[in-house]
Amino acid sequence: MSGPEPRRPREGHGGTGPGAIAPDGCSVEVYIRLPAGDEPDVVASAVPAGASLLEPGCGTGRVTHPLLERGFAVTAVDESPRMPEHVRGARTVCSPIETLELDERFDAVLLSSFPVHAGDVRVRDALLRACRRHVADDGCVLVQREGEDWRERVPRERRAGDGLVRIAAADPTGDPKVSAVRCEYVFPDATWTQTFLSRRMDRAEFEEAPAGAGLAVDAYLTDDRTWVRALPAG
Ligand SMILES: C[S@@+](CC[C@H](N)C(=O)[O-])C[C@H]1O[C@@H](n2cnc3c(N)ncnc32)[C@H](O)[C@@H]1O
Repeated sequence: MSGPEPRRPREGHGGTGPGAIAPDGCSVEVYIRLPAGDEPDVVASAVPAGASLLEPGCGTGRVTHPLLERGFAVTAVDESPRMPEHVRGARTVCSPIETLELDERFDAVLLSSFPVHAGDVRVRDALLRACRRHVADDGCVLVQREGEDWRERVPRERRAGDGLVRIAAADPTGDPKVSAVRCEYVFPDATWTQTFLSRRMDRAEFEEAPAGAGLAVDAYLTDDRTWVRALPAG
């Protein structure tokens, strides 16, 4: 089991359970256990073979590893030093996405796992600007957003490996657009929780957000419109 997380939790974020908890409330142990879903296939369908990829918020490499197996060159970034300790075969960088300044541009930047729904729009906009800073002018940014009906479908749960991932609550906050989401990860030997702030964005609001960072939505990559390709504007 990895050591404790040295960074303080982000405002409105928290987590409980064994092992290190990243500043956004994610458990390292949970992300070691969760299997990859369709993310690597979605990415592979949207970028050229062998592309260089920047993966901010890589966690323990759940998605990084299958991308490496598909022949992509991945630079994996996470603000928690405990998460990328588990990444194998990729260059890793420990940094918040917002302040990332790599001296390199990538064929594609993956903004996966929904940070585009950050409760604080200043954080969201800084994330998108970091994506723009690091993508080649002829590259793309792949953004994963929430399903449009997800807030109405609470509670809901799905199986993941030998565990259960449950969105248990989405409680109101002082901002009508922002919910305090409580997620539970129930495994046979232990349970973890994560609480985070998530901003609801309908399709129009979502499409406006990248524009402020010099990106333009180009295509929805999946039928449920949760994966989006954005291109450098102009
Ligand atoms: C929900 S986990 C997902 C990990 C990985 N993308 C996956 O799908 O398995 C989110 C990860 O992003 C990291 N993270 C969240 N916000 C971040 C930020 N602003 N800058 C850098 N890392 C961040 C967390 O430390 C955590 O490892």
